[in-house]
Amino acid sequence: MREENQSSTWEFILLGVTGQQGQEDFFFVLFLFIYPITVVGNLLIILAILSDSRLHNPMYFLLANLSLVDIFFSTVTIPKMLANHLLGTKVISFGGCLTQMYFMIALGNTDSYMLAAMAYDRAMAISRPLHYTTIMSLWSCILLVVASWVIGNANALPHTLLTANLSFCGSKEVANFYCDISPLLKLSCSDIHFNVKMMYLGVGIFSVPLLCIIISYVHVFSTVLQVPSTQSIRKAFSTCGSHLTVVSLYYGTVMGMYFRPLTSYSLKDAVITVMYMAVTPMLNPFIYSLRNRDMKAALKKLFHSRSSS
Ligand SMILES: *[C@@H]1O[C@H](CO)[C@@H](O)[C@H](O)[C@H]1NC(C)=O
Repeated sequence: MREENQSSTWEFILLGVTGQQGQEDFFFVLFLFIYPITVVGNLLIILAILSDSRLHNPMYFLLANLSLVDIFFSTVTIPKMLANHLLGTKVISFGGCLTQMYFMIALGNTDSYMLAAMAYDRAMAISRPLHYTTIMSLWSCILLVVASWVIGNANALPHTLLTANLSFCGSKEVANFYCDISPLLKLSCSDIHFNVKMMYLGVGIFSVPLLCIIISYVHVFSTVLQVPSTQSIRKAFSTCGSHLTVVSLYYGTVMGMYFRPLTSYSLKDAVITVMYMAVTPMLNPFIYSLRNRDMKAALKKLFHSRSSS
């Protein structure tokens, strides 16, 4: 095997999504489509929101920030996978591997805290409409965004430092298309008990936003059901429906991946990670803009001003 000879002490081998050549070709083509769609789609959302002053409110500012995180999130793993496939190599340096792991955890957490901030925003808009503008002021909005970034990075740092201190003396074959924490821990020949405990703690921290999201939606639905009218129910569903879709997609796949014993992890689970690594960031802009009249109007305006200038 050529890859075996290429690997030195400071390198890892990325086995890929399934490890089978024909299927790797399929995922290469898939990612080749997904990546530009993700970047362009999310960039259009950001431009549409920033250029339309009617969308300058907390809900859309948070959405634009989520799009920004999604662009970074898919950039951490997909370009490296595409480049390696083109160059016919599977090697990643130790530093590159830790960098991928750091940003994957940091941005994944930031993403989930932003989803929680968006749910909180919707809950306040629907259950406290009279106080909404004072609760969600520009400052609280900025605070929510900054807090998401800070918590995300604070959660990534200990895992990365702990992993950097492990010794890898046997196989260097990472059972995924990027350096993820569970396949890396499985490769180490150090005592990983503490690392595994920290990983579960990390998943716990990652689940706090999910709890906030559930509480926010209980709030929304109890408000709507207090004075049930078809109009108020429709309003609640149209503003929250897209957000709920994104949240279930995201948490459904992440929970399926990390809420279980490390020993049960194998290469075939890498296919699950494709879902939240590549597919969810791509779908976010479509889910939000296709169901949202204001977003569609802003996008139309964006293209119109481009073509007339
Ligand atoms: C992110 O949110 C902040 C605060 O609401 C806002 O000022 C900023 O424009 C947003 N960023 C993007 C890229 O939209």
